Amino acid sequence: MLVPGQARVPPSATVRTYPVAEQWRYVWIWMGDPAFADVASIPDYHWNHDPSWVAVDGYFYVRGSYRLLIDNLLDLSHVAYVHATTLGTDRVADFPVKVRREDNKVHVDRWIVGEPAPPMFKLVGNFQGAVDRWQLIQYQEPSHFMIDVGCADAGTGAGEGNRSRGITMYSNHTLTPETATSTHYFWHHARNFRLGEPELTERLAKATSTAFGEDVGIVEAQQDRINRARPDKPIIDINADAGVLQARRLLDRLISEESAAGRRKARSD
Ligand SMILES: [Fe+2]
Repeated sequence: MLVPGQARVPPSATVRTYPVAEQWRYVWIWMGDPAFADVASIPDYHWNHDPSWVAVDGYFYVRGSYRLLIDNLLDLSHVAYVHATTLGTDRVADFPVKVRREDNKVHVDRWIVGEPAPPMFKLVGNFQGAVDRWQLIQYQEPSHFMIDVGCADAGTGAGEGNRSRGITMYSNHTLTPETATSTHYFWHHARNFRLGEPELTERLAKATSTAFGEDVGIVEAQQDRINRARPDKPIIDINADAGVLQARRLLDRLISEESAAGRRKARSD
């Protein structure tokens, strides 16, 4: 910093600085104790930067907790109810999920087998009959999502790894809490087929933005209900929340570890 005519910078003219890093077309800022900033904790969002993928992206300011958005993204049964015009088909919630935990991640996998393709997939993949569809969610603490979604003609082996008769997209989401009840919500949605078709890119941008905007509407309505409910009202979990519960545990552990480390560091400083 330079002050004309003097070497000394007045202390009241300084501002706090934060570690930042640029990666995958995002700027990452660490707003906690700089001693804990670690670029290795930036999630792998290479789909947003890789020339063999085309991504559409967007941002929402959400009047709702980032935790409600985590709940939303870890339980995609909601596509049947919230995204009727884009991602929903009737029986999604009837197909069970498999949940597994891996270090700082939670995986929630669902296969919807032998069902019609949802409108957005029909639009981009021209599916005529039944499809086998996957929703393979990877949550990485504290608030990152890489969701492998797509479908293939039913019975062509997608479940065994042969996706040659199908389409794959990565729906990736990042939640930055602003306050306990407001969130900066960044997303990008990438595909690796029909890359040179800007018109398709535009239609996908519109469809994804519509769908995620519907999630924002639901989360804001939930937050509004919670704000007005009695504070002792319990949250009731159902089977589909198995992944949500794992993520909450991970997140709570991370917060308490970081607070404890911060307290230890403060004592030793
Ligand atoms: Fe959604």
